[in-house]
Amino acid sequence: VVVSPMAQYSCRGGTPDDYYLVHLGSRAHGGAGLVCTEMVCVAADARISPGCAGMYAPEHRDAWRRIVDYVHRNTSAKVAIQLGHAGPKGSTQLGWEAIDEPLPEAASERNWPVIAPSPVPYGPRNQVPREMTRADMDRVLREFMQAARWAAEAGFDWLELHCAHGYLLSAFICPLTNRREDEYGGSLANRCGFPLEVFRAIRGVWPAEKPMSVRISAHDWAPGGNTPDDAIVIARLFKDAGADLIDVSSGQTTRDAKPVYGRMYQTPFADRIRNEVGIATMAVGAIFEPDHVNSILMAGRADLCAIARPHLADPYWTLHAAAQLGYRDVDWPVQYLSGKEQLERNLARAAQLTAEQLEANG
Ligand SMILES: Cc1cc2nc3c(=O)[nH]c(=O)nc-3n(C[C@H](O)[C@H](O)[C@H](O)COP(=O)(O)O)c2cc1C
Repeated sequence: VVVSPMAQYSCRGGTPDDYYLVHLGSRAHGGAGLVCTEMVCVAADARISPGCAGMYAPEHRDAWRRIVDYVHRNTSAKVAIQLGHAGPKGSTQLGWEAIDEPLPEAASERNWPVIAPSPVPYGPRNQVPREMTRADMDRVLREFMQAARWAAEAGFDWLELHCAHGYLLSAFICPLTNRREDEYGGSLANRCGFPLEVFRAIRGVWPAEKPMSVRISAHDWAPGGNTPDDAIVIARLFKDAGADLIDVSSGQTTRDAKPVYGRMYQTPFADRIRNEVGIATMAVGAIFEPDHVNSILMAGRADLCAIARPHLADPYWTLHAAAQLGYRDVDWPVQYLSGKEQLERNLARAAQLTAEQLEANG
């Protein structure tokens, strides 16, 4: 079980503070094998909102190191960093304000100019982004490389490159947002060109023995957009570039999308990529019961399950799931062992009572 990346919009100037230590630290105590940060932005103008986390200054590295050290010192969880660039979806409000909408006039921080593969705004009120030049690409490449070096210095165990959800690299891959006529537009392989350059550049500076994953939108859910067939090609390109795992999300690349939601609704895409491309996958999206996780893993549909919203409701989701299933061989924090025993006893008693009632009712 992985704690899926979730933006918390609570940084000042990109620095994760005590809130992040407690937020990520408590989820690391909660039994997940891997805790992933939210999208950590590689430059100030790469942020989604003024509250987003950064890795574009030495003080960011030091703040992250404190959090990573805490998790390593106190739990058996590993910590991943998700690096990304907001691109056309940058300069917007905090998640609990008007999400994806530009900053209001009265905001303490002014809107900053945003860049994208093509001048396609994310919505009617969003800025028209400036089309990236080669010089912009070189700058963004350098920013990703520097962020990856700092991430390594901060001690992260795993690096994920965010190529999903309509942010900069995703906007290159999606045909609805990439209208370029140079070698970075047109065919799917061309559209993946810049994201692959970024991936390879990071792979070159990120420690070779540490894994790298890529989050993709496996379906744009919109006419003319990428489909799960395209996702197979995208996954293969990243596999060939050295990715260890594809984190298979979908959508959020265009406001015209009409996703078909349902429990485990993105898992079929992870399943196809895993079994057709032959690369490890992480399934994510409406996986909210322990049985979902077990069935996905046991059926070989994915190698890891990322769980997002349930971890907002319950930092100890995995520990509670294990207790619920009667699986006791799981590491709780030693400080909390008496809580484990009581929970297991109460759950066992409740299960026995239900069984007795069922029997009595014939
Ligand atoms: C508050 C919140 C913030 C999120 N931020 C990110 C993010 O920074 N990067 C990312 O790739 N996905 C982000 N997501 C998407 C989740 O990682 C996940 O893919 C999605 O919520 C579906 O999983 P779930 O059904 O378990 O919630 C966010 C989701 C939520 C609810």
